[in-house]
Amino acid sequence: MKALVLAGGTGTRLRPFSYSMPKQLMPIANRPVLEYVLANIRALGIEEAAVVVGNRGSEIIAALGDGSRLGMRLTYICQLHPQGLAHAVRLAREYLGEDDFVMHLGDTMLPQGFAEAAEEFAARRPDALVVVRKVADPRAFGVAEVTADGTVTGLVEKPEQPRSDLAMTGVYFFTPAIHQAVERIEPSARGELEITDAIQWLVSRGSAVVAQEYRGYWKDTGRVEDVLDCNRELLGRLDPAPQAAAGQVDEESLLIGTVLLEPGARVVRSRIQGPVVVGAGSLVQDSRVGPYTSVGRDCSLIGTHVDDSIVLDGASVSGVPRLRGSLIGRSAAVTSADRGNDHHRLVVGDHTQVEVAA
Ligand code: DAU
Repeated sequence: MKALVLAGGTGTRLRPFSYSMPKQLMPIANRPVLEYVLANIRALGIEEAAVVVGNRGSEIIAALGDGSRLGMRLTYICQLHPQGLAHAVRLAREYLGEDDFVMHLGDTMLPQGFAEAAEEFAARRPDALVVVRKVADPRAFGVAEVTADGTVTGLVEKPEQPRSDLAMTGVYFFTPAIHQAVERIEPSARGELEITDAIQWLVSRGSAVVAQEYRGYWKDTGRVEDVLDCNRELLGRLDPAPQAAAGQVDEESLLIGTVLLEPGARVVRSRIQGPVVVGAGSLVQDSRVGPYTSVGRDCSLIGTHVDDSIVLDGASVSGVPRLRGSLIGRSAAVTSADRGNDHHRLVVGDHTQVEVAA
């Protein structure tokens, strides 16, 4: 069994971050989303995967390399023009050969894994198994109609009037039957070759297509609020044993709850309320941090109070008393105005959102 991870696409909903990084590398609790995706695959005992990458592929290749660090062998497939998930499967035809495979969208988090679905696929070997999740409003997703015994009777991509509350999570198991299906479909109204349509093609032909319900935490990390939500969830799952040992904490600082300091992180005259991670080489000084905050590598937080946020590598925040629900980009600088200034001064990139407490 092989695996196919889809990490191409454009990521317009994650602007401005997707201008400078592929969204699948967004760190959650200081690990890129793609590492969690590959960990899910590795947990099934699969060691071989292909990662479909787009025009920012070189950054993904630099981050994951040959996969050996994650116990995997990775191959990269280039999709310069993203034409849909089924198009990515077309491009992977040669790599996949006649193997069964699991396909995992590269921006989708299912931290509890999906071992049950893998067991069900191995036991019944339908032509396709889709992992679905009940949601209140499925209109932003592929939606599956499923009978009581798990048979899929119909699928629609982002329907305006969904006929069920079961959303496709972005994890699919396939036999090679899917290759004929992805060749037969036409682009959808949004101009993409939809994997949902390819699976519907199988259903229409009477092929065995089943659904497995996933009940754990699930998030498509396509938008900033989803990334922050996922950060809270994963920080909440950190091993509660205090793990500050790798960093340096002075006597005037207080660490409460689960605080993970990576090697070379320094905490000076500060209070950190976990769950929090502070990346290698970062400095927290005269500050209050957390709960639910991830600080990347080589950041500096000085005279600042930040909680429920993500600060990416190399960013600095100084003299800012209340920062919450924020995502600060790589090497960004957030500072307080000079004394006596009564105005805000912003140098803000395209499609950035700023909320100023008036
Ligand atoms: O989040 C789950 C949903 O993901 C499913 O419910 C939908 O049925 C499925 O179509 C998909 O919808 P999205 O609109 O969220 O897909 P998105 O464009 O975000 O792409 C998902 C991943 O696949 C992302 O990592 C980018 C990658 N991708 C996307 C396209 C269109 C590619 O590698 N190539 C592509 O051509």
